[in-house]
Amino acid sequence: MKEELLKIKDEAALNIDKAATSSELESIRVKYLGKKGSLTAILRGMGSLSAEERPAIGKLANEVRGKIENLLVQAEGRIKRAEKSEKLKKEVIDISIPGKEIRRGAKHPLTKVLDEVKDIFTGMGFSIVEGPEVELDYYNFEAMNIPKNHPARDVQDTFYINEDVVLRTHTSPVQARYMEKHKPPIRIIVPGRVYRSDTPDASHSPVFAQIEGLVVDEGITMGNLKGTLDVFAKRLFGEDTRTKFRPHHFNFTEPSAEVDVSCSVCKGKGCSVCKGTGWIEILGCGMVHVKVLENCGIDSKKYSGFAFGIGLDRIALIKYVIDDIRLFYENDIRFLRQF
Ligand code: DAH
Repeated sequence: MKEELLKIKDEAALNIDKAATSSELESIRVKYLGKKGSLTAILRGMGSLSAEERPAIGKLANEVRGKIENLLVQAEGRIKRAEKSEKLKKEVIDISIPGKEIRRGAKHPLTKVLDEVKDIFTGMGFSIVEGPEVELDYYNFEAMNIPKNHPARDVQDTFYINEDVVLRTHTSPVQARYMEKHKPPIRIIVPGRVYRSDTPDASHSPVFAQIEGLVVDEGITMGNLKGTLDVFAKRLFGEDTRTKFRPHHFNFTEPSAEVDVSCSVCKGKGCSVCKGTGWIEILGCGMVHVKVLENCGIDSKKYSGFAFGIGLDRIALIKYVIDDIRLFYENDIRFLRQF
């Protein structure tokens, strides 16, 4: 029995050494160690041995089994490595084949400028508020002190949905909506799309974007308005930017002004962007009209406020030196990809 065991050991070692695949290895394991394997058979036959023989043979049989198991584990490692390197050789990747381009989206230039404007005003303590684009005639005009048949309506060529409903022509109606529901102190900006039935050209689009601003509190003065907008212009266009307040008329503010900034392209020397003047108009503003405050239930004896309306497209055109507003709304991918 001892010779048989030693023979099994040598034979198994030889076979394991020759095995080249995992399945060959598995059949070797079955052949010796499986239920019907030759070593298993010997271990089963131990019962017929004499009491003196049994311990020595038993010990040897266990050693042989241990040895075979060990060899199988080693061989398995060797075969797995060989099979893996074989697989890698077959799966060669041709790195010279051109890859598929992954197109990244980017922010629209108007969104980029709006993000900057929002940052500047939230940094000064303003909150961001929105309002409806389909608006009641009341908020768009009446509450803003522009009664029916007032010539000021002509300036804002309006898309009427019906007699009482319009596409808002400016973001100013959100002033009234907000003041009706909130008590001062009020400090908000209102970005949004507005609509006017203008024929499109390089400086007109039937849809464009504004940012309304409104501050109402006790003791608000024109000085606060000028300071706020001056800081805004400097943050947006650079510290060397100057502002100029020109008297103007708006129904919803009194007094009113338009604000020009020194041209950020030529630094005020005169160029095609500022049409040689050195200045560019970017917004309208003023002290909130007493009638507007009262229309919205705010005590005009106690409170005063200022408001402004910035043309977002305008400042984006200046910042990126673009000469046609229509580019912002045509969504031509060749244009948008430049940002
Ligand atoms: N709503 C005006 C427009 O669309 C812009 C404007 C001017 C808004 C003066 C204001 C303001 O709040 O005070 O032309």
